[in-house]
Amino acid sequence: MLNLAIQAAYEAGAILQEYATRGFQIKNKGRINLVTEADLASERHIKELIASHYPTHRILAEESGISSAGDSADDYCWVIDPLDGTTNFSHGFPCYAVSIGVERKGEMIVGVIYDPTRDELFAAERGAGATLNGEKIQVSDVDHLERALVVSGFPYDIRERMDEYLPAWRKFLEKSQGVRRLGAAAIDMCCVATGRMDGFWEHGLNPWDTAAGWIIIEEAGGRVTKMDGSPYDNYSASLLCTNGRVHEEMLAVLKEIRMTEPER
Ligand code: IPD
Ligand code: CA
Ligand code: CA
Repeated sequence: MLNLAIQAAYEAGAILQEYATRGFQIKNKGRINLVTEADLASERHIKELIASHYPTHRILAEESGISSAGDSADDYCWVIDPLDGTTNFSHGFPCYAVSIGVERKGEMIVGVIYDPTRDELFAAERGAGATLNGEKIQVSDVDHLERALVVSGFPYDIRERMDEYLPAWRKFLEKSQGVRRLGAAAIDMCCVATGRMDGFWEHGLNPWDTAAGWIIIEEAGGRVTKMDGSPYDNYSASLLCTNGRVHEEMLAVLKEIRMTEPER
């Protein structure tokens, strides 16, 4: 499954780059939520590849939802974001990725994220560690928020819920070394896994945004929870992931802020 996820991510990445070169149509799913031809072609390709090898596995993909091929008696579900960072992609800003995770009975067992703009492939298998282009990766050893570089994002309902989302930014701008917003949750999570960043929080993410990143961070030695510190699962709307060492400090900051669970 890891090898197939890697193959699918590379091939889907090549599809994205082809569209990036020759141009593509863009549609609005919501006021600021876009979908391009590239999202759809990438998703179609990944799904076909998985179905040809594992016809009984379920697939949850952002643009087409859940498909229950076969009787799914074996409990595997592939969770796919065919293009994470569609807004970046649409503007030609080179920060986006393909994200593919395999979940079994609620636990992620494989995760692969491919950034075709940097030719960086992040991969993890439960119990076997995490890698970047085949080399082992590890979270950072920064142990104070004051020295931490943290990252976050805004969900597509930002205009409606700005007053709920912005206070955390203010707090982290005050207490950390710096805050970034890259526009692709999968890349944000890989930044934590490689130690390029020390923490990532976001509200309102979906399973396909986080499935692969979750196992990659854990296998790189990091910690992933909800924003209240309780165990994370793919269907949680709130997410905090860190190198583990700044987790409690970030949790304490988030606890000072009242946020309600967004509607899913
Ligand atoms: C989005 C990106 C973004 C995050 C949004 C996601 P998409 O995914 O990951 O960084 O802030 O919440 O929905 O729509 O580009 O696949
Ligand atoms: Ca996404
Ligand atoms: Ca997407």
